[in-house]
Amino acid sequence: MSVLERMTSEDAIALEDRYGAHNYHPLPVVLQKGEGVFVWDVEGKKYYDFLSAYSAINQGHCHPKIIGALIEQAQRLTLTSRAFHNDLLGRYEKYAAETFGFDKLLPMNTGAEAVETALKICRKWAYEKKGIDENEAQIIVCENNFHGRTTTIISFSNDPVARKNFGPFTKGFVKIEYDNLGALKDALENNANVGGFLVEPIQGEAGVYVPSEGYLRAAKELCEKHNVLFIADEVQTGIARTGRMLAVDHENIRPDILILGKALSGGVFPVSAVLANDEVMGVIRPGNHGSTFGGNPIACAVAMAALEVVKEEGLAENAKELGEIFRKEMGKFIEGCEIVKSIRGKGLLNAILINDTEDSSTAWDICMALKENGLLAKPTHGNIIRFAPPLVMNESQLMDCISIITKTLARFS
Ligand SMILES: Cc1ncc(COP(=O)(O)O)c(C=O)c1O
Repeated sequence: MSVLERMTSEDAIALEDRYGAHNYHPLPVVLQKGEGVFVWDVEGKKYYDFLSAYSAINQGHCHPKIIGALIEQAQRLTLTSRAFHNDLLGRYEKYAAETFGFDKLLPMNTGAEAVETALKICRKWAYEKKGIDENEAQIIVCENNFHGRTTTIISFSNDPVARKNFGPFTKGFVKIEYDNLGALKDALENNANVGGFLVEPIQGEAGVYVPSEGYLRAAKELCEKHNVLFIADEVQTGIARTGRMLAVDHENIRPDILILGKALSGGVFPVSAVLANDEVMGVIRPGNHGSTFGGNPIACAVAMAALEVVKEEGLAENAKELGEIFRKEMGKFIEGCEIVKSIRGKGLLNAILINDTEDSSTAWDICMALKENGLLAKPTHGNIIRFAPPLVMNESQLMDCISIITKTLARFS
């Protein structure tokens, strides 16, 4: 079948079902066009996108500046591999390193690859700089984390669906409770082999768990005290999503290793990165790590444009303001309703907790009803619905979305 041939939603879903691996459970909507905060399905129905490809589309769908950079670069040079230099990599590395305040950047493609990269850098630093005995290094992680899908990363997940029958797992990780400074203190004090602490500044995938104020700052101080690298996974929370360029900016801290992905390219191209200062990044030498596509010229051009858009359009400020309105308006609605227990979040990364059992289908049913009413969102972990629209949304669009959401929820009360 030609890609230009028109399809119904049913046909498209049937094709995926027949020929694609069943590794996702998408909402039954087939999208074919996106612009700003809107997407359209193959039947021409228009929706507000309230997920933004899990926070990758912060700059809005098909942002003209980012698409322009993509097209221009794609017509000139797409890939050199790192066997040769290209004329964009250094410029991009400088721009991103200066934007986030680090000495150096290591370019990768997906979020999971960037997390893997950070873990490798941390281990190497632990042996070569901290002096931990070979093969003894440990990295502290948090319960209910989500850092991606590779074998090593799922080795320290506690999601049974992500892990079952994928063992044996990678060793060298210690799991502690999220948002629990005492647990971190104990783990650091009782183990001289710890090289790093890997943490999401807000646990997005787990259901948008915002830690207590001061947690990240105190955790960073504990890491400093024990000569342990503080590694922030900002793949989902970074690039203005929570109302600051990085979620760690809310506590004025700078991680030793920063992991970025998703909106680093505005969702236009798989671009991820690890940033660190020289004393940490310096442990990586030729042959230690790499990727054929990492740092390719298209990725560099796209990422620079994507970061410029975030700054030029004040997306962090917009996310902060609209996030406050969203939580306030939803809070008012929740006071008088049975179906939603609470709302939580920061900036435009929010979630509502549905008043039903973990295994009920209510959150899914609500998302289906939202879809009928022109807004796309998805449950995350049972009865929690994540709300993360593109950050280019304006206030009247947000009020329109709040009206769709509250009217839909009212039908379930
Ligand atoms: C915090 C975090 N880290 C890593 C990842 C993995 O990114 P990717 O799906 O691009 O591999 C995600 C994806 O949702 C994430 O939320």
